[in-house]
Amino acid sequence: MIPAMLFLELFKNDREIGKASYIWQRKFTGNRRFALSSRFDGGCDSRTAFGCSYEEGRRIFELQKEQVKLVLHLSRICFIPGWRYFPTEANRKLRSIVKEIQSLLRGIISQREQAMERGEIIRSDLLGILMESSFREVQQHGNKNAGLSIQDVIEECKLFYFAGSETTSTLLVWTMVLLSKHQAWQARAREEVLQVLGKKQPTFDGLQQLKIVTMIFQEVLRLYPPAPLTVRAPTKTVKLGSMIIPVGVQLTLLIGLLHHDPNLWGNDVKEFKPERFSEGISSAIKTQYSFIPFSSGPRVCLGQNFAMFEAKMALAMILQHFSFELSSSYLHAPFPIITLQPQYGVPLILRKL
Ligand code: HEM
Repeated sequence: MIPAMLFLELFKNDREIGKASYIWQRKFTGNRRFALSSRFDGGCDSRTAFGCSYEEGRRIFELQKEQVKLVLHLSRICFIPGWRYFPTEANRKLRSIVKEIQSLLRGIISQREQAMERGEIIRSDLLGILMESSFREVQQHGNKNAGLSIQDVIEECKLFYFAGSETTSTLLVWTMVLLSKHQAWQARAREEVLQVLGKKQPTFDGLQQLKIVTMIFQEVLRLYPPAPLTVRAPTKTVKLGSMIIPVGVQLTLLIGLLHHDPNLWGNDVKEFKPERFSEGISSAIKTQYSFIPFSSGPRVCLGQNFAMFEAKMALAMILQHFSFELSSSYLHAPFPIITLQPQYGVPLILRKL
């Protein structure tokens, strides 16, 4: 797990990293209109997890975003077997993206390898932990093939970049939408933030004390899960209730549908009611798996604690300095493209407090 404290430290000390929030703080001295795009700050996660520069992180996020768009586009037109090998514009673009991501990550990893060979202190970030474990296994077994290969480390990094991008920013965006629609909850959240943190920079301990803010995030995660579905494929034939599921079948679990089931949540299932979570998640749910915004089981989200801290910190800083409401041009259109995006963005009006 990534130490969230490290992220707080980076955020506090490095202006470059906290760009999104600093912009919010500095730029809006009066009433202003702006469109909150659904990205928090791709570079922050990568800097914390991999110690690379903010720009390198942003570039990888941007490339992956483009890659997703192209894959979705191609999945709609690729009916001909072998089509993906044709040198079409989209296929060539996809290949060049894959190559660039690979070379950026290889560069970050090579720098770290060289630092380790020079005997420099290993940073305790995700990349450091991955590489140290691999290094140790190679040393223990005296065999270069024992630990994770560089390609394995690259694949792990890609997964982290992909899983961590867009999700937290999406959570923050929907939270701002709902707190704009429910001003009383916005006021309650601000009151709590000011009581616990004052106008000071958030601390790790302070963020942990935010109960109302946590309830609000849980209700947003229920109504607008940033990762709205998950896919599983059996490795052997399994019996699921009365169904036999053979190998080769893909099962899609719609997390959003589960979170909107009145049998599990009651007739007020569609309403924004953070008080559902006032006694914690276990009291809010009827059955074990009715609330799974971070999935569950062996492949549960590895970044869930990190994401919650990241989102709490951003929201706390916004609430400390601004009140906000939706612009009249806002169109409500949740749109699942891997993450649950607001299709037409979220134009917000922020007022400096
Ligand atoms: C609100 C924010 C987030 C939500 C709602 C979320 C949700 C999820 C979900 C539903 C899965 C399971 C996907 C599946 O099983 O198909 C997952 C996996 C994962 N998430 Fe997150 N995620 C969030 C933020 C993050 C962040 C910030 C990171 C990393 C910094 C991260 C890292 C991962 C990783 C590495 C996995 C794959 C775990 C595995 O397969 O073993 N997530 N996430």
